[in-house]
Amino acid sequence: MKLFSSVNDVTDVPALVAQALAAKKDPFANNHLGKNKTISLVFLNPSLRTRMSTQKAAMNLGMNVIVLNIDKEGWALELRDNVIMNGTTVEHIREAAAVMGEYSDIIGVRSFPGLKDREEDYSESIFNKFVEFCKVPVVSLESATRHPLQSLADLVTIEELKTKARPKVVLTWAPHIKALPQAVPNSFAEWMCKADVDFVITHPEGYALSEQFTNGATITCNQDEALKDADFIYVKNWSAYEPYGAVTEGNEDWMLTNAKLNAFAPDAKIMHCLPVRRDLELSSDILDGPRSVVIHEAGNRVWAAQAVLKQMLEAL
Ligand code: CP
Repeated sequence: MKLFSSVNDVTDVPALVAQALAAKKDPFANNHLGKNKTISLVFLNPSLRTRMSTQKAAMNLGMNVIVLNIDKEGWALELRDNVIMNGTTVEHIREAAAVMGEYSDIIGVRSFPGLKDREEDYSESIFNKFVEFCKVPVVSLESATRHPLQSLADLVTIEELKTKARPKVVLTWAPHIKALPQAVPNSFAEWMCKADVDFVITHPEGYALSEQFTNGATITCNQDEALKDADFIYVKNWSAYEPYGAVTEGNEDWMLTNAKLNAFAPDAKIMHCLPVRRDLELSSDILDGPRSVVIHEAGNRVWAAQAVLKQMLEAL
C-alpha cells in the first residue's frame, strides 16, 4: 500500500481487519519490518489518540518515529499556490513536504478542514499537496473529509464485539457547541457501507452528509426509530454539509441517554471516536456504564494503524 487516505485505498478490507486483530494478539511479530525505516507524523491540528496510537504502532513494527506538531513547532506554512509570500507565512508546503520526504520512508499527515469553503475542503488540497510533494507513501491521520484510521479501528471493534453475523449499526448525530468537521461521520459511513452490517444514519433535518459517503445506508431523521434494536450505536456531532459548516440550535434532545437506550436499544454497545464532551454530546451515565466501548475502541487505534503501516512497509 502506497497511500491510505480512504477505504478505497484498501484492496481487501476483511483481510486488513484480520491483520489488525492478528497484531493485537502478537504485537511484535513483524518487528523486523520497520528496521532502519522512519515514519514522520506531521500534525497541523491537535491530537491525542491518533498521535500516540500511530507512534506506538510504528514502534511495534520496529520503526523510528519523528513527530512534528508543525502548527506549533514549525515555520508558518503557505498552503496556496501563486501568492507572493509577503505576509505571515514563512515556508511553502512545496518545499516543506519535499524536505520531510527526504527524512522519511512514510509520512502521516493530519489536516482539518477550514469549514468555510466546501469546494476547497472537499478537494483535500492540503493532504493532496503533501502526497504530491513529499514523494513517499502517505497515511492520513485525518484529513478535511475523512478519518480512515479511526474508521478501520471502529470496524475492528465491531468485528471483535459483535454477537451476530450481521449486526445493526446506527450512526447518530449528537449535539455540540462548535461546528465540527464531517470527516469522522463521512469516513465511518463510507466504511460501514462496505461492511457486512445493516447500517442506519440518523440526524436532525439539515445535517445530511454528502451522498458520496452514504450510498447504501438507510437514512432517517427519526432517532427513536433508527435506534430500535441497534447492536452498535456510533455517536458523533458534525456540522451541516449544506449550508456548509452551519450549526442550528434546538437539537439538544438528540443527546443519547440510558433512558433512550432502555426504551429502544437495551443491548446496544456505544461507540464514539473521542474526544467527547460529557453531558453535551453523550451522557456521563452511558460513558461510565457497561454499554460504553469507547476506551476499547480507542485501544484498537493501535492495531488499525499497525495493520496499515505493515502493508506500507511491505510495499517499500
Ligand atoms: N479520535 C481521534 O482521532 O482522536 P485524536 O483527535 O485525539 O487523535
